[in-house]
Amino acid sequence: MKKVLATLIFTAAVLTLSAAPATPKYKDPARKTDERVEDLLGRMTLQEKLGQLSQTLLASPADAMAGVKDGSTGSFCCVKSHLPSVADRNALQRAAVEQSRLGIPLYFGFDVIHGFKTLFPTPLGMAASWDPGLVKQAAVAAAAEGASWGMDIAFSPMVDVSRDARWGRISECFGEDVLMNRRFGRACVEGYQGTDLKNKLSMGSCVKHFVGYGAALGGRDYQFTELSERALRETYLPSFHECIEAGAVSVMSAFNDISGSPASANPFTLTKVLRGEWGFRGFVLSDWDAVYELEMHGIAGDDAQAAVAALSAGVDIEMKTKTYISTLEKSLAEKKIDIKTIDEAVRRVLRVKFDLGLFDDPYTDESLQKTQIKTDEKKALSRKAAGECMVLLKNNGVLPLKGKERNIAVIGNWANCLDIFGWWTGAVDERDGVTVMQGIAAAAPKGTQVINGSMGRMMKPEVAVVCVGESGSMFGEDHNRSDITLPWGQAEMIRQIKERGSKVVAVVFNGRPLALEEIMPYVDALVIAWHPGSESGNALADVLYGKVNPSGKLPVTFPRSTGQVPLFYCDRPSGRPDKDTYIDMDAKPLFPFGFGLSYTTFDYSDLTVAGNVDAKSEATVSVTVTNTGKAAGKEVVQLYIHDKVASVTQPDKKLIDFTKIELAPGASQVVTFKVTARQLEILGRDLKPVLEPGEFDVWAGGSSESGLHALLTAK
Ligand code: BGC
Repeated sequence: MKKVLATLIFTAAVLTLSAAPATPKYKDPARKTDERVEDLLGRMTLQEKLGQLSQTLLASPADAMAGVKDGSTGSFCCVKSHLPSVADRNALQRAAVEQSRLGIPLYFGFDVIHGFKTLFPTPLGMAASWDPGLVKQAAVAAAAEGASWGMDIAFSPMVDVSRDARWGRISECFGEDVLMNRRFGRACVEGYQGTDLKNKLSMGSCVKHFVGYGAALGGRDYQFTELSERALRETYLPSFHECIEAGAVSVMSAFNDISGSPASANPFTLTKVLRGEWGFRGFVLSDWDAVYELEMHGIAGDDAQAAVAALSAGVDIEMKTKTYISTLEKSLAEKKIDIKTIDEAVRRVLRVKFDLGLFDDPYTDESLQKTQIKTDEKKALSRKAAGECMVLLKNNGVLPLKGKERNIAVIGNWANCLDIFGWWTGAVDERDGVTVMQGIAAAAPKGTQVINGSMGRMMKPEVAVVCVGESGSMFGEDHNRSDITLPWGQAEMIRQIKERGSKVVAVVFNGRPLALEEIMPYVDALVIAWHPGSESGNALADVLYGKVNPSGKLPVTFPRSTGQVPLFYCDRPSGRPDKDTYIDMDAKPLFPFGFGLSYTTFDYSDLTVAGNVDAKSEATVSVTVTNTGKAAGKEVVQLYIHDKVASVTQPDKKLIDFTKIELAPGASQVVTFKVTARQLEILGRDLKPVLEPGEFDVWAGGSSESGLHALLTAK
């Protein structure tokens, strides 16, 4: 009997096992991503597909739950004012994975622009370091903080080349130069994403804003951009291409209209170039409301037309507005869009979710924050980065402070305040930083009286550190200025302090190049600090006291007046170069691109060019750099070229390489750059890259307006 019973039990068990549904292919981590994507796609309803193409602003986790469960939300855009806790994030994710029909995980995106909880300098400030390796380390740190908070995608880097100081968002890019935006963009992508996207401390990168956004007319945000295909290909596209080559998983389409075709419905940029020419396989996310705004641009009469225009041009996910999910089913029935286009967009989204590891490991380990957020290492890195980014523009010997000053007054709007975090402030607590006053008080040797704020204005301090500039709300998105001089009578304050007889060290906190000519006669030293982040005061004290020898160089031209804007180093020559001026002022900048002083001096000698460049061989350009001063210091060695005669006019100067070196006093180093055909290629009349034989000017030096000159030949 026992035997019969055992046989029955065994048979029942086998039957139960064989009746259990097989694990769907898409849930099997052992299968290839593309196979998993196709399997999942084949199981999805149209509404579920449209849900994946719909990104919701996460205002309240409780309110968002229904859309997660029914699959109508595929991802969330998180903002600082409503940042979910990790527990909230995991609860939403659990609902997606366990309670939606197919269990497709969500992703959470956030503007990790220059840090998350530990802030680094603003991107424009970071570019002043001319050190992509450092920026990569900052991106690694920012991603670790963001990821430990449950954020999966960083809406960064912004690689919009910008040459207009009036535009508030110039603070978010890496300056006016193409190569700078390429190198720093790549550094960010590599830093956020790391070598393994599935790593719990890395984030996917969403490169923005594709494309041409930095060329907004008049420096007014969101405005029309008039961009020829040449301008796009020469100036605005290369930084995005570099980020795609670095492996960025997503791209954000921009708000601007590009010569009649808005960037968020532009088949040329989004499909022909991005997918066709560059082979991008990730997804494109629209900027905030940008699909709906196609109606304001006047290329769509209603939500349905806007959705069709954006999706068919190549925008896969709509951020915030809901035109896709509310209209595409009808448009499909009316044959205004086809299912292949929808499927292809969904495929791209799913592929990235698989690549990020969200299907196999969807939750954030809540204990990670303890070891990742605001660690001492990250604070130290932020302090280091801020010090490396400060640019010394004038110094008559007052700096570095000698430590023997009887008294130092720390004066001005930014002396004692923390409005030095930039416009995007990550998820930082606004009180969590080091003020200038705190930094200087901590660094000043015993015996120095450090006088705080307005008291200092009344007295006649030996040295006045005057902290001036722009608040975080004077730049950034939709915060443009028609006048880029110092606001609120700060220039007059500097003059008065100087006239009372103090030595004036002006420290400028800024998000854009400012026109500082009026203060120059009254300052003994001028430091551009940008908005330096969490460790602002400490980093500034390091620089003022010479613990850090300044090595930052300008990533943007500083004009004399707003009237000169746009002013940048790499414009094309005119037929009358000597007439390139104004009747009422000099046309030259106050401080050129690439300029910055140090507490030591560097001498350049022996510029030599070896070899010619052709398709197969490269030349080398070598220059000897000597530290001729008394302090150890870092120098950014910059290499510029000019194609003397070409079929298409070429910039007066073009940065083709740079490196940062460190030299002890008296030490010399031979810096050697390789010059390849690719660096000398131009876009010919047919817009194809070509190496045209002929002579090139070459300069190697410490700024775009200095340097030794030689000639180089392309064969
Ligand atoms: C900005 C983007 C940002 C997005 C989400 C938009 O207004 O243009 O840069 O990523 O908001 O916060």
